[in-house]
Amino acid sequence: MRNFIGSKILASAFCISAFLSSENALAQKTLKEAYKNYFPVGVAVSPRGLTGSDADLITSQFNSVTPENAMKMGPIHPEPNRYAWEGADAIVAFAQKNGMKIRGHTLCWHNQTPKWFFTDSSGKQVSRDVLLARLKQHIDDVVGRYKGKLYAWDVVNEAVPDTSQSIYRKSKFYEIIGEDYIEKAFEYAHAADPSAKLFYNDYNTESASKREKIFQLVKKLKAKNVPIHGVGLQGHWSIYEPTAAELEKSITQFASLGLEVQITELDVSVHPKEHQRREHRPTDTGILTPEMTQKQAAQYKMLFDVFRKHKGTLTGVTFWNVSDKSTWLDNFPVPGRKDYPLLFDKEYKPKAAFNDVVNF
Ligand code: GLA
Repeated sequence: MRNFIGSKILASAFCISAFLSSENALAQKTLKEAYKNYFPVGVAVSPRGLTGSDADLITSQFNSVTPENAMKMGPIHPEPNRYAWEGADAIVAFAQKNGMKIRGHTLCWHNQTPKWFFTDSSGKQVSRDVLLARLKQHIDDVVGRYKGKLYAWDVVNEAVPDTSQSIYRKSKFYEIIGEDYIEKAFEYAHAADPSAKLFYNDYNTESASKREKIFQLVKKLKAKNVPIHGVGLQGHWSIYEPTAAELEKSITQFASLGLEVQITELDVSVHPKEHQRREHRPTDTGILTPEMTQKQAAQYKMLFDVFRKHKGTLTGVTFWNVSDKSTWLDNFPVPGRKDYPLLFDKEYKPKAAFNDVVNF
């Protein structure tokens, strides 16, 4: 009997230790290993994040990078005849040294674009021809500099409005050039690097009305044989949205046009989106509660279950920032409020959501 009990204890001890070591092995699995047969897992980076703990996490977990700001028009082309290449060059060199893929972001956007782009030396708005020539020059120079090094570009960003009936946001590009500024941007990018995959990128792509408008836009582009290869769903989501059904509808609807889909700017805010704030205001304090952590893990699990299901169509997933230590959602849209939208905490440690993403 004593022997029997002894062997029972031994067997349980063995089971526990086997369980613990398999837990350890699981905990050590990285994002890029877990998804090697699915899609690259990327992260948005800044030049100052290329050293220290950020860099360690970037190179150990991810196999793709997107410059968070360094390739945007304002930062990279601050004056008519001056480019500031340093930040973008540093990111490209870092990625190449570490064998990572690079997505370019972004060539034509209504935000973070310098004023000079739309005005002449006397401050007067330029003509369609001048703006098209500037856009072409900008795209030639930027895409040309990194030709063959970047595998994909977000060519046009956020050209579709959230609310109005129109497909087109009334941006300066639209007002001065007209709706064909979008196809021109894609044509210029394709000419500058014919092997780069070219994306239209936007947010709120799971809202039925905006999805439909984006669909109409990219359908028109495809019908005109514009060189567009994919749609980027930014993926600035929260623990309250989207649903699996909404996300799947977006992926399959864009894919029905023969386009790739990528998740280009993923984060899952623990705070409700502004239109949901009224109901959720009691939790909206900027403090991370256990309930939020658990809801976030469940939301990330659902998202990656859907992503894996669409392997082949879904050709990349990129997180927007490295860890909760610093995210663009800190103070946005509510000043003074912290957010915790990523898979790694403020100390760069994997969160519950990380385990749900890598263990499937
Ligand atoms: C948009 C842009 C990104 C970034 C985020 C906010 O999604 O595409 O480049 O600016 O807003 O950080």
